[in-house]
Amino acid sequence: MGYGSSDDACVYTVTDDIAVIQTVDFFTPIVDDPYTFGQIAAANALSDVYAMGGEPKLAMNLLCVPNCLSAKTVRTILEGGHDKAVEAGCTIAGGHTIQDDEPKYGMCVTGFVHPRRILRNIGAMPGDVLVLTKPIGSGIVSTGIKAQMVSDSDRDVLYRHMSTLNAKAGRAVVEAKDVHACTDVTGFGLLGHSYEMASGSNVTIRLKAGAFPLMPGALELASMGIIPGGAYRNMDYVKPHMAVMPGVRQVYVDLASDPQTSGGLLAALPRDEAEKLLDKLKPFAPWSAIVGEVLPRGDKSIELTE
Ligand code: CO
Ligand code: CO
Repeated sequence: MGYGSSDDACVYTVTDDIAVIQTVDFFTPIVDDPYTFGQIAAANALSDVYAMGGEPKLAMNLLCVPNCLSAKTVRTILEGGHDKAVEAGCTIAGGHTIQDDEPKYGMCVTGFVHPRRILRNIGAMPGDVLVLTKPIGSGIVSTGIKAQMVSDSDRDVLYRHMSTLNAKAGRAVVEAKDVHACTDVTGFGLLGHSYEMASGSNVTIRLKAGAFPLMPGALELASMGIIPGGAYRNMDYVKPHMAVMPGVRQVYVDLASDPQTSGGLLAALPRDEAEKLLDKLKPFAPWSAIVGEVLPRGDKSIELTE
């Protein structure tokens, strides 16, 4: 795919019918519960395969363990990852563990895709709209949890979203017609990943703040300034390329900049196809929404409107 457009994974074409997708992701615990951490880390690592339009088939565990972590905790993290891999139809073929001061877990994932069905994060065309398949605000709510400002029910919703595979959403996107670009929303936030899509596609993306699906509690927490440091880095990165329209509250810039863990897919496709895609997503991802539209390249790559 080349390094120019920050694609989600590497793709290697084996034959006219088979291309291999290779990706890796691992991180330090973002939740206290080891099983949930394992699930989220696996769902996050598997996601880039779905973002490329593929199906994950093989994975290798990557694990860093401090001495103080009990064998039971380590086993529980791996169980969480294993169960997500099974759900994805992906075999964990092995892995590697080293000792480290801070625990870390993730996977190196191999997937397959037909070379003509590869979805890239560039190629969005004027007339497309952007469909997002998970709410944003996971970084903000995670930060709120550390500050003990999040209800148990909001926390549970967050964990459920972060541990949900992008498998079903990915299949719905693959089955949709005329998908011109797709990526998953992760560390760069909705803003950063939209900017990469816009600049790589030589278009302007107009994001509609009022249409963003939000994690419960995210808007309130962001209004109180509970925003992770990564959001400011994303904001600074996109700022020179973004026009914020009058009337847009700063809190929506914060939400759009919020780095996501195991976020949803962001797909660019014509509006009528996007409506059909939303119908398909409704049974399992009813919060999915059209969060923006693709315009011919204007002054800035990104416009944020109310
Ligand atoms: Co990605
Ligand atoms: Co990644």
